[in-house]
Amino acid sequence: MAGNTFGNFFKLTTFGESHGEAIGGVIDGCPAGVSIDLDAIENQMMRRRPGQSDIVTQRKEADTVRFLSGIFEGKTTGAPIGFIIENTNQKPADYTHIKDSYRPSHADYTFDKKYGHRDYRGGGRSSARETACRVAAGAIASQLLGAIAITGYVSSVGDLTLEKPYQKLDFNTVDSNVVRCPDAEMASKMIAKIKEVKKQGDTIGGIITCVIQNVPVGLGEPVFDKLHAQLGKAMLSINAVKGFEFGSGFKGATMNGSEHNDLFNQDGTTKSNLSGGVQGGISNGMDIYFRVAFKPVATIMQKQQTINSKGEKVEMQGKGRHDPCVVPRAVPIVEAMAALTIADFWLANKLSKL
Ligand SMILES: Cc1cc2nc3c(=O)[nH]c(=O)nc-3n(C[C@H](O)[C@H](O)[C@H](O)COP(=O)(O)O)c2cc1C
Repeated sequence: MAGNTFGNFFKLTTFGESHGEAIGGVIDGCPAGVSIDLDAIENQMMRRRPGQSDIVTQRKEADTVRFLSGIFEGKTTGAPIGFIIENTNQKPADYTHIKDSYRPSHADYTFDKKYGHRDYRGGGRSSARETACRVAAGAIASQLLGAIAITGYVSSVGDLTLEKPYQKLDFNTVDSNVVRCPDAEMASKMIAKIKEVKKQGDTIGGIITCVIQNVPVGLGEPVFDKLHAQLGKAMLSINAVKGFEFGSGFKGATMNGSEHNDLFNQDGTTKSNLSGGVQGGISNGMDIYFRVAFKPVATIMQKQQTINSKGEKVEMQGKGRHDPCVVPRAVPIVEAMAALTIADFWLANKLSKL
């Protein structure tokens, strides 16, 4: 299986399956001398952790990150940072029904056809459990980035959408409710919606908006590795992501240039920011912002028609502990992938000119 590494300079390789002994990662390329705040890493892990509220999966995992190398006396040494997160709450019996049958819209069919042998317990490597490693590594990347601030929040659940622009929101309130929407009234509607869908044995999709502030001018490589292209790859590599919209996004396609152009102030900042903080693939110092769309997860508790590995029609009903809506837990994952991308370009930029 190729493609378990993300980044060129700040590189994360992850390993492990949902129901194996442990998952973990190796970060290669983190410079020496970064002060590591373990509580900040733990806090991001808690935000992704299953069982954190009644609107997420009830799997109980401590998700404690154990660092094995690369950190000494509170600072990175420059050596590879190895870490593991033990899997402590496996229930493989919940997955025997998918051993020979395929959950519609999950990864069971494609893994089976591609590899001919798959770890069906909890979805194995296709499980979003792998994203816990991204969150741990992203928290280290954030500490390398210092003043660059990355904030994600839930802006839609199903057809409920927070229309307020991010500039009008108080980011300190993102975690004041379990759905992670920084608007109390909208948050309670979203929570009620997720509970209603869960009661029906169904799932629902949603959108996370992410804003990156205090980014210096010059991050991003202007041809194949444009900053927004790499952010798109980072986000689309997260399980269940179906859409990525950057800056003015699809709305920009409906506008005239005279409305869309971001006119300059004399100091090089711009009066508007429909470019989303990136021009020509390079950050221009304005806020970077984008939206990430998550589908409703595939495992539903209702009966569905599917097929087994012999191509026979079978009926399937989801079992076990699943997320009715992933966006509340995916906020720290989006933030982590953004931090890994920015850290990678921040290091690359050190080589861009004398
Ligand atoms: C935080 C998070 C939690 C998830 N939880 C579940 C889950 O409980 N059940 C499920 O079927 N899929 C869940 N998924 C989605 C699957 O991992 C994903 O749909 C699957 O790997 C197939 O990949 P694809 O949807 O990207 O094609 C979750 C995704 C994320 C980001």
